[in-house]
Amino acid sequence: MDKAHVIFGSTTGMTEAVANKIAEALGATAVNVNAADAQAFDAELLVLGTSTWGVGDLQDDWAAQLDSVKANFAGKKVAVFGLGDSLGFADTFCVAAETIAAAARDAGATLVGEVLKIDDTNEADQTDGKVAAWIETIRA
Ligand SMILES: Cc1cc2nc3c(=O)[nH]c(=O)nc-3n(C[C@H](O)[C@H](O)[C@H](O)COP(=O)(O)O)c2cc1C
Repeated sequence: MDKAHVIFGSTTGMTEAVANKIAEALGATAVNVNAADAQAFDAELLVLGTSTWGVGDLQDDWAAQLDSVKANFAGKKVAVFGLGDSLGFADTFCVAAETIAAAARDAGATLVGEVLKIDDTNEADQTDGKVAAWIETIRA
């Protein structure tokens, strides 16, 4: 079994870009949840990324797939990151990432690290530093 896989949903590419950075740091590949087959979930650590849309809603691809893929989280270590807009959507900032974390927990996964919340819209200069620090915590 591979050590880590990164699985993301992304509407305008911002979460995808962060997913690719995380995958590179972990020596893994990043796969869109739309294209994720059973093998995509076959890793010791699943790193799941989503943006938040609507008012606290899952990104569209995760909204379509979460119910059918969540059984794959059972028995896995799962780390979750989210992208959002903390100024435009202060009350629902990165809520979708918490939704995925809760689904993973309910499905029998062990959550690793904090849910990483990134605002690449207003705080893009902080993204790389946050990602690097977070990767150290999920590796530990
Ligand atoms: C119509 C609309 C609704 C949004 N709703 C939220 C929200 O509820 N919470 C949040 O944190 N960000 C929200 N966002 C911001 C996006 O999550 C943010 O732009 C994100 O970086 C997009 O990532 P993606 O390109 O990977 O989908 C919203 C953006 C738009 C345009």
